[in-house]
Parts: sequence; structure tokens; C-alpha cells
Amino acid sequence: MVQLKTGAAYLNGRFLPLAEARVSPLDRGFLYADGAYEMIPVYSRHAFRVDEHLRRLRHTLDGIRLADPHSDAEWKAIVERLIADADFEDQAVYIQITRGADDQRDPCFPPGVPPTVFLFTSPLVRPTVAQRETGVAAITAPDIRWGRCDFKTTALLANVLARQLAADAGCAETIMLRDGYLTEGSSTNVFAVRDGVILTPPQDHLILPGITSNVVLELAAAHRAPLEIRPVREEEMRMADELWLTSSGKEILAVVTLDGRPVGQGANAGKPGPVTRRMHDWFCAYRDEVMRHGQR
Ligand code: PDD
Repeated sequence: MVQLKTGAAYLNGRFLPLAEARVSPLDRGFLYADGAYEMIPVYSRHAFRVDEHLRRLRHTLDGIRLADPHSDAEWKAIVERLIADADFEDQAVYIQITRGADDQRDPCFPPGVPPTVFLFTSPLVRPTVAQRETGVAAITAPDIRWGRCDFKTTALLANVLARQLAADAGCAETIMLRDGYLTEGSSTNVFAVRDGVILTPPQDHLILPGITSNVVLELAAAHRAPLEIRPVREEEMRMADELWLTSSGKEILAVVTLDGRPVGQGANAGKPGPVTRRMHDWFCAYRDEVMRHGQR
């Protein structure tokens, strides 16, 4: 267990050690998963794409009808203090807001109850060098989630079950399918490559609009890489030359086997492909530039 310095957590207006943070068992986050969250990656104590994360947080809060308790400037001040207080350079800042704790278990929104605001920072877990170089295995499973997967809510049981399926199979991720189409991974967005064209599903209500995924879309446009944003059929994904995952922790990570079969054909089968490698290099160059000079 990593030791966090005092101040590495924040709860309802107070900075405190994570071990001292306490919430009520009647908190609606606990009872109903009635809450929103974000995870912001931090490199060398710089929060990556913080404005985009705060925008998505607001999208979720608006969607679940929970008033945003803070302005962007206030959120940034809290996040910056947590980052400064932590013992490590590369961090994952977790933000959660729930609809607070009432004195009874009633599904209706409790009037006049303040939200619970909780943040903590932990070391950023990134893919290992081996995962980066050789890629990872994934499986598929039906997407059994609700119809507003564009909201980043704490109601993650279906994602948890999907992720555990992957762990049970010795794999890194479960890629989900709905009605014969690719949606996303249990905690990642998914890209396929066929005949040199990058394919990824549109950001509708069935997937989370990933911040990393948006960086990939921008990089593809900047480098004029062929890209189609459209529904991706299951067979297209299974026949893909390359597959990769994106997320704030996994960055750009090649999937080299899907349901036990190698991804791709010929000499590249079962290995990270050239488009994936190029995108990873573009991503790292972009991220390093942003960390040095601020966002373009
Ligand atoms: N999860 N899709 C789902 C379902 C996710 O949970 C995530 C991220 C993503 C990728 O989004 P981003 O690039 O903004 O990290 C896609 C985070 C890492 C989490 O749950 O902690």
C-alpha cells in the first residue's frame, strides 16, 4: 500500500489523509451509485487535459441533474493542491460527487442536502514496458450497461463484471458488443485498423467520450491519418489488422489477441501493428509537448 502524505485527499471542503476520510452509510453514492466521477492523469505534477475532464464532469452532472458544486477555478485549485501534496510525480486524481447523505433511504432527490465531494490522488498506473512492447490480450462480452454510457457515473457494476471476466481469462480488458456492434472496453475506448483506415464508433450515448480517445482523433486529423468514425460491426473488429485501447491510464495500448485468436494477419499477426505504434509515438510526443509548453 502506498503511503499518502497528509492532504492527499479532500472531502467536503477539507484536505486530509485518505485514511481519515469518512462518509455516511446513507450516502447516496453508497446506496444508489447516485454520483459522478472523473479520473485525471497527472504527468510530472501537470494535470493532463484538465479542462476537458472538467467539461465531461459537467456533462455527467447535468445529465444526472446534480448541481456542480464548484467553478472550474475552484476545481483546479483543489486538484492542484492535491497534486502538490502527494509524494509522487505521476498521479491519478480521482474526483467523485454524489447526491449526498439524507437521513432516510428514499430514491427521490433529497431537498436541501449538500453533495458529497471527494477527491484523492494515487500513483498513476501505466502499462508496463512489456505490455507496451508486446501488447495485451482481450476478450469480448455483451454490453449489458444502461442507455447513458456517455455519463461517467459511479454505477459501474456492469463494467466491474466485464473487467473481472477479463481478469478471470488472464486478459487485460473486455471489449463490449451491443447488437452486433463494438461499443467500448470495460474502462477503455477501442480503435480498429482495417486496410490502413482507423475505425472507431461515434461518441453517442452508448460510449464514454474518452479524453484520450479525443486526443487520438485530433492526432489522426493533424497527421492526416485515414479515419472513419462510424458504427463498427463485430465482424469488422474480428477481422481487423490492428486493435488498440485508449484510456487515461492505458494511454494507447495494442490488443494482440481477441478471444484467444491473434489480431491481424501475416507477419504482424499477434503483434502491435504499425498504425498503433505510430499513434502511440504521436501520443507520447504530444503529451510531452503539452507537459513542457501547455496545451495547444
Ligand atoms: N475510465 N470508457 C470507459 C467505460 C471508461 O471507464 C474510460 C475511462 C474510458 C476512457 O476514457 P479516458 O480516456 O477519458 O480515460 C472509456 C477511467 C480511467 C476510470 O474509470 O478510472
